[in-house]
Amino acid sequence: ESLGGKMSLLQRRWFGQATETYTLAGDAPYAAIAEAANAEFNRVTPENTMKWETIEPQQGVFDFTLGDALVEWAQANGQAVRGHTLVWHSQLPAWVSNPTVPWTPATLKPVLENHIRTIVRHYKGKVDMWDVVNEMFNDDGTFRQTVFYNTFGTDFVGWALTWAHEEDPDALLFINDYNFEYVSPKVNAAATFFQGLIDQGFPLGAVGAQAHLIVGQVDQTGITAGLSTFADLGLLVYLTEVDIRYQIGRGNDIANYTSSQIGQEAKDYYELTNACLAVDNCLGMTVWEYTDKYSWIPGVFAGAGAALPWDVRLNKKPAYTAILEAIEGS
Ligand code: G3I
Repeated sequence: ESLGGKMSLLQRRWFGQATETYTLAGDAPYAAIAEAANAEFNRVTPENTMKWETIEPQQGVFDFTLGDALVEWAQANGQAVRGHTLVWHSQLPAWVSNPTVPWTPATLKPVLENHIRTIVRHYKGKVDMWDVVNEMFNDDGTFRQTVFYNTFGTDFVGWALTWAHEEDPDALLFINDYNFEYVSPKVNAAATFFQGLIDQGFPLGAVGAQAHLIVGQVDQTGITAGLSTFADLGLLVYLTEVDIRYQIGRGNDIANYTSSQIGQEAKDYYELTNACLAVDNCLGMTVWEYTDKYSWIPGVFAGAGAALPWDVRLNKKPAYTAILEAIEGS
């Protein structure tokens, strides 16, 4: 009984985890669950180490040490790799986000091209999905004001897809964002923009819906409709950074929650999993760390947490069983 094992039985479906080798190295019980022997996961995403600040800390100086380590670990453990992320406004090194001389299109374009081409070339054949652009939309559907948008308008999106595709034509190229799960102004504006990219022949293959969700606010029908907005364009979809957090001030330890609250989280995971399984073009889901022990949530949302299928002690929660039941039922 394992999530990745069960998901693999379904054609083209993935159940992934986000992690890093330095986390695995420091915690043997954690690593044991993450590894091949348990077959919980058939895919992995580096949580931080392929981001710009880590992978190109100085202009033209690439450091693949941590990314390579994760890829080697993934290969040794039979897990495919989602690359995250080539173009994002966050976790940029200062030389990109705060340059001494302001960027112009003529100065920034070769920097972006070199960044994308060098990374995708390096991981060609090893990373089969890339989050090419991450979080480019505001929640109202307008484009986020970033160093890239402010310099290029939206042109960088098509360029980025093209450069990545030229380096590795076999990689599935994503645009990834949060609040992509339910039909909304953001989803509708994004779908219109994606249709334009498709019409112009840019190699967009898939949409990532991060799915950082809240307990009690998960609705299978609504998420199926949101994902279908993208799938109806012919794009594949994927739930890329799943967690479902409690926002009721009880913190990160599931022991502090009532049985009905714990049941609600399990129900929400069941509905989320079923929402993906109900969409033919949905490739699967990746939890953003599998355990509450290493979740980013408590550090960012005070009092929130307990968002993942394994608790802080690495025990499976009812949410785990709920995911398994959804997969088995499909
Ligand atoms: O590397 C430094 C380390 O040198 C320093 O000692 C330490 C002290 O705080 O910070 C370390 O950097 C941290 C970094 O993760 C690497 O571990 C940052 O503080 C921390 O803020 C950063 O958080 C990451 C966050 O992205 C940053 O935006 C989370 O781990 C990561 O889970 C999160 O992931 C994002 C996705 O990439 C995109 N979607 C949203 C998601 C959640 O924010």
